[in-house]
Amino acid sequence: MKALLLAGGSGTRLRPITHTSAKQLVPVANKPVLFYGLEAIGAAGIREVGIVVGDTQAEIESAVGDGSAFGLQVTYLRQQAPLGLAHAVLIARDYLGDDDFVMYLGDNFIVGGIDDIVARFARERPDAQIMLTRVGDPRQFGVAELDADGRVVGLEEKPAAPKSDLALVGVYLFTPAIHEAVAGLKPSWRGELEITDAIQWLIEEGRRVSSTVITGYWKDTGNVTDMLEVNRLVLESLEPRVNGRADAASELIGRVAVEAGAVVERSRIVGPAVIGAGTRVVDSYVGPFTSIAAGCLISGSEIEYSIVLPRSSIRGVSRIEASLIGHDVEVTPAPAIPRAHRLVLGDHSKVQIIS
Ligand code: DAU
Repeated sequence: MKALLLAGGSGTRLRPITHTSAKQLVPVANKPVLFYGLEAIGAAGIREVGIVVGDTQAEIESAVGDGSAFGLQVTYLRQQAPLGLAHAVLIARDYLGDDDFVMYLGDNFIVGGIDDIVARFARERPDAQIMLTRVGDPRQFGVAELDADGRVVGLEEKPAAPKSDLALVGVYLFTPAIHEAVAGLKPSWRGELEITDAIQWLIEEGRRVSSTVITGYWKDTGNVTDMLEVNRLVLESLEPRVNGRADAASELIGRVAVEAGAVVERSRIVGPAVIGAGTRVVDSYVGPFTSIAAGCLISGSEIEYSIVLPRSSIRGVSRIEASLIGHDVEVTPAPAIPRAHRLVLGDHSKVQIIS
């Protein structure tokens, strides 16, 4: 069995972060979302992983390498444009050969891994196996309709009038039957070759499509709110450790990780929170559910429930909350007079200001 991990696409809802970097590499508790997927695949006993990549190929390759750090053999499969999940299967045809495979969307986050569903698939070997979960607003997802016996009778991608509240989770198991299904697809209303349509084709052909409704935690990390929420969840089980240094005038409360080379001076850190390698936190407050990446400076500031990416600095600013701050960003206070905001914001930035 192989895995097909999708790490192409454009990430419009995480702009401007995704103008310069892959959305699957945005860190959760200082580890890229994609790595959690790779770990889940490895834990399920799969070794060969094809990673579908687009414009951000170089960045994904430099983060994941040949996969040996995860005990995996990784092959990169270039997709010229994000033409849909079924298109990714199409371009992976030669790589996948006649093997069964798990398709894993690189921006999905599933607590509890995929061991159980992979084992169930190996036992029952339906033509396709999907995972479903109940959501508040199904219109943003693929939606499944089940009959009274729990069999999947229909699937629709982002329907305006959903027939149920069961959304498709971004992990699918397939036999080579899926290749027949994707071969004849036409682009959907959003111009993509939809995997949802391919599975619907299997159903109409009378093939066996089984489903599992999961009750555990799942998020598509496509937007900032979900990203912060996943960060909160992962930090809740953070292993407290101080590999860096915290001075006597600082207080570390609860689950706090201070990575190697990080320095905390005259500050209060209320966990769960992680302070990345080489980062300095000086005269500041870092509140719960905050991940500060490597090489940052937090000085004379307050921040909580936020994610800060590498090498950014926040000086003399209070209080930052529910924020996602990119690489190499500088946040500083404006001079008292004139009372004005001075902004240099990337395209598609979102800023909320108290005035
Ligand atoms: O997250 C679950 C949802 O994922 C499902 O409920 C939907 O049925 C399914 O279509 C998918 O919807 P999204 O619109 O959220 O998919 P997105 O475009 O965000 O792509 C998911 C991942 O696959 C992401 O890591 C980017 C990658 N991708 C996407 C496309 C369209 C590719 O590698 N190539 C592509 O062509």
